[in-house]
Amino acid sequence: MTISFSSLQAFLTALKVRTMSVDKIQNFIEGQKIDLRGLRREDLDAYRSWIDNPMVTKFMETGWRPIADHELEELYRVSTASPDTVAFAIIDKGAGKVVGCCGLYAIQWICRRADFRIIIGDADAWNKGIGSEAARLMVAYGFDKLNLETIYLGVNTENEGAIKSYEKAGFVREGVRRKLIYRNGRYYDALMMSVLREEYMSRKASAG
Ligand SMILES: CC(C)(COP(=O)(O)OP(=O)(O)OC[C@H]1O[C@@H](n2cnc3c(N)ncnc32)[C@H](O)[C@@H]1OP(=O)(O)O)[C@@H](O)C(=O)NCCC(=O)NCCS
Repeated sequence: MTISFSSLQAFLTALKVRTMSVDKIQNFIEGQKIDLRGLRREDLDAYRSWIDNPMVTKFMETGWRPIADHELEELYRVSTASPDTVAFAIIDKGAGKVVGCCGLYAIQWICRRADFRIIIGDADAWNKGIGSEAARLMVAYGFDKLNLETIYLGVNTENEGAIKSYEKAGFVREGVRRKLIYRNGRYYDALMMSVLREEYMSRKASAG
């Protein structure tokens, strides 16, 4: 059987349209610089390279030993199957690839609070506003979709870029827990931050 060039071209165009629309459906939250979609098993290799990179985990508690296959599998299971966790892959639209992940963890459905966590493992994506946008999108998701009352986080007090990105997303400083994190041969204090539903609503109202 011979296939004409034009029919091959039509087939490839149809395939491209199909792939694009599938990808579009799978992006759960659309932002400006980034989209957020559900985690996939194929993201785990990238996750391993981030967690095993001391530059990425410099201010974090994680990464003190190489992550094992079963831990990655467990992380994937908890992130996708636990009703108390909603986790997303962060897609940098400009670069066209997954650069990190973020989510709401330890969701308490009675107190209606959740722990925001984020890791952008691709250093080329740092300081471009991606972390702030991801935090903003997760805050909006937590209040508008999950009906939360409080979203909180803990961050190394020396992780100034992270703190700035959280403040840009509306988190405020609550207080410091002393010597909470051991890393790089010494202890670090942890800054606790949170955003309340009423604060989010008033920011939203003033933004129009
Ligand atoms: C922390 C993290 C999420 C921030 O994301 P990001 O995309 O780099 O953050 P943003 O670009 O949105 O915002 C960072 C801001 O801090 C600024 N900044 C960066 N390093 C800084 C420093 N040492 N001192 C002061 N400001 C700094 C940036 O210039 C930027 O400000 P701007 O928007 O006014 O230019 C990301 O860097 C990351 O995942 N790092 C590794 C893992 C990690 O530390 N996770 C957090 C665990 S709590």
